[in-house]
Amino acid sequence: MFKKTVLASLAALAVSASGALAAGGGGHVHDYSFSFEGPFGTYDEHQLQRGLQVFTEVCSACHGLRYVPLRTLGDEGGPALPEDQVRAYAAQWEVFDPALDDFRPASPTDHFPGSNLENAPDLSLMAKARAGFHGPLGSGLSQLVNGIGGAEYIASLLVGYTGEEKEQAGSLFYENEVFAGGWIAMGPPIEDGLVEYADGSPNDAESIAQDVAAFLMWAAEPKMMARKDAGLTAVLFLTVLTVLLYLTNKRLWAPVKKAAKED
Ligand code: HEC
Repeated sequence: MFKKTVLASLAALAVSASGALAAGGGGHVHDYSFSFEGPFGTYDEHQLQRGLQVFTEVCSACHGLRYVPLRTLGDEGGPALPEDQVRAYAAQWEVFDPALDDFRPASPTDHFPGSNLENAPDLSLMAKARAGFHGPLGSGLSQLVNGIGGAEYIASLLVGYTGEEKEQAGSLFYENEVFAGGWIAMGPPIEDGLVEYADGSPNDAESIAQDVAAFLMWAAEPKMMARKDAGLTAVLFLTVLTVLLYLTNKRLWAPVKKAAKED
């Protein structure tokens, strides 16, 4: 009887949760394995550097990263570029300086520019704004293990095109198995061999997609490693505290128990 009620309410919960969480991601998200997954995962600085290259050469034609400070490209745990490279990289961008009333080359203290194309969203927080995993039954429970899957969503989206396109109200839309609704206004941005990596890493479309997705995950959550470290420290601390409290409890009650036995 009790079991039945619990099962029924669990089922009801799963159904209502699937309604609430279904937004974003139309399915078909591939579970790529990234270096930053799991409680001990860290960003791979070489992958982040490759992803930065992809963003710069391809995505930045339309998309911006306006919440990301350029200086963070030098951060340990991030792309970790040497200081002179950060400065040289920053100087490729132009920012508008109200004091000069003119454009000037960016310096590391500036942010990346915003989007160039009006309808192309800023990508600074995109990896945290989209979820790749919703299951089982839309309950979102797999997110506990796999994370929300923002990077998996982006990588899958970039290679999720079917090749079909249609014109609607004067704009072109491209069929994409991952995009919610199935038709996206962004043409397929990457293809095999589109970028050349200096380190000779594979540059098929799927590798490029994963590299830029990892970079965008870092952009959205640069302090992920610090967060995991703090979490682990807290768990460790609580474990030690539990043991100490258990022993204290035993010790405190020992005379009482002894007295009770002797009675
Ligand atoms: C030619 C311009 C253009 C280029 C280049 C481009 N995009 Fe887009 N992108 C767009 C537009 C326009 C949209 C909005 C599409 C829509 O909402 O239908 C978009 C949307 C997106 C979205 C959001 C999808 C969603 O779930 O809402 C992501 C993520 C994205 N682009 C990533 C990238 C990445 C990564 C690159 C580089 C590899 C890239 N884009 C290159 C124009 C571009």
